[in-house]
Amino acid sequence: MAILRMTDLDLRGKRVFIRSDLNVPLDERGRISDDTRIRASLDAVRTALAQGARVMIASHLGRPKEGEFKPADSLAPVARRLGELLGQEVPLRQDWVDDPGTAPAAGQVVLLENCRLNVGEKKDDEGLARRMAKLCDVYVNDAFATAHRAEATTHGIARFAPVACAGPLMAAEVEALTKALGNPARPLVAIVAGSKVSTKLTILESLADKVDQLIVGGGIANTFMSASGLSIGRSLSERDLEDEAKKVIAKASARGASVPIPVDVVVASEFSATAEARTRKADAVGPDDMILDIGPETATMLSEILANAGTIVWNGPVGVFEYDQFGNGTKTIAHAIANSKAFTLAGGGDTIAAITKYGITDRLSYISTAGGAFLEFLEGKKLPALAVLEDRATT
Ligand code: 3PG
Repeated sequence: MAILRMTDLDLRGKRVFIRSDLNVPLDERGRISDDTRIRASLDAVRTALAQGARVMIASHLGRPKEGEFKPADSLAPVARRLGELLGQEVPLRQDWVDDPGTAPAAGQVVLLENCRLNVGEKKDDEGLARRMAKLCDVYVNDAFATAHRAEATTHGIARFAPVACAGPLMAAEVEALTKALGNPARPLVAIVAGSKVSTKLTILESLADKVDQLIVGGGIANTFMSASGLSIGRSLSERDLEDEAKKVIAKASARGASVPIPVDVVVASEFSATAEARTRKADAVGPDDMILDIGPETATMLSEILANAGTIVWNGPVGVFEYDQFGNGTKTIAHAIANSKAFTLAGGGDTIAAITKYGITDRLSYISTAGGAFLEFLEGKKLPALAVLEDRATT
């Protein structure tokens, strides 16, 4: 994919508008509970500042109502944290769209208040995009986690800015995902887990065309077990999607790929932190059982598949790992991925929580900062924020 990169440009004295994804979780007191996305965005900002650029950073935070400012929607905590990490003050600019003084002096940086407060942002309004484009000489999109949204700061502005390019985080994310799915070292193994087939059906269908093994977990695995004729008791599943599950299995097998079905599971009679965990063979699940994790034999079987992989893409925990008695499957998978020599890529909120819980953050090749955008890339969808950068690279 041909896109212009920020690192190819001379930014000296230029007004540089960086769209980052600083949409970080805040606790009930408005404090940042995980600053990963802020730290991941620093490279672009530091590089532009080091060149003496006049740096403006834009981001959304949450999903505020356009035109209605509420203190809870403010990027003020993010401005403070950015200032600490950069070691220089980061003023927060309100009402910045039409202010000719929005760009700071050379070597200085400002954070622009939550871009989703601007009327027209979500609908990618052309008028708003053109007004924002006037603020800059160079537009940098470094927000891979928002690349699946066609909004005024992620898409429209890129059409009208004098130059539009990808920042280093955007470039690294695209490179890692393309490496994993474009021309992967084989065998390519994908783990797609989570509660529902319905939310990930298109990903499963798309991966069935590409992978050598498609490991399903969580509620998705229950639906696949049921589709394979196994009883799953009271487990979470989507019976109406069993035919789709069968099609995914058939599509994979037609290419010589496989969708391994659990051979044992961990069940409980209720879904709770204190529920008692019992291991059952996959063909011995009782009518009152709820499957909450894969069993030890399955975990070993999957670990062997992962040990032989050339590339691993991981999205979703295979059990209810928040409760330790149902976390062994996810823990075993996490360690198998960490120990593997494959190129390993993970993304999505729950997956990152599991990676953190099992202490393997530094042992994966790449952890995406994205949730929805990561999934849409896996689905094979064209992300609008990337598509416009490709267009601009040739116009
Ligand atoms: C995310 O957290 O996935 C991104 O910041 C996008 O946020 P959104 O789903 O509100 O567009």
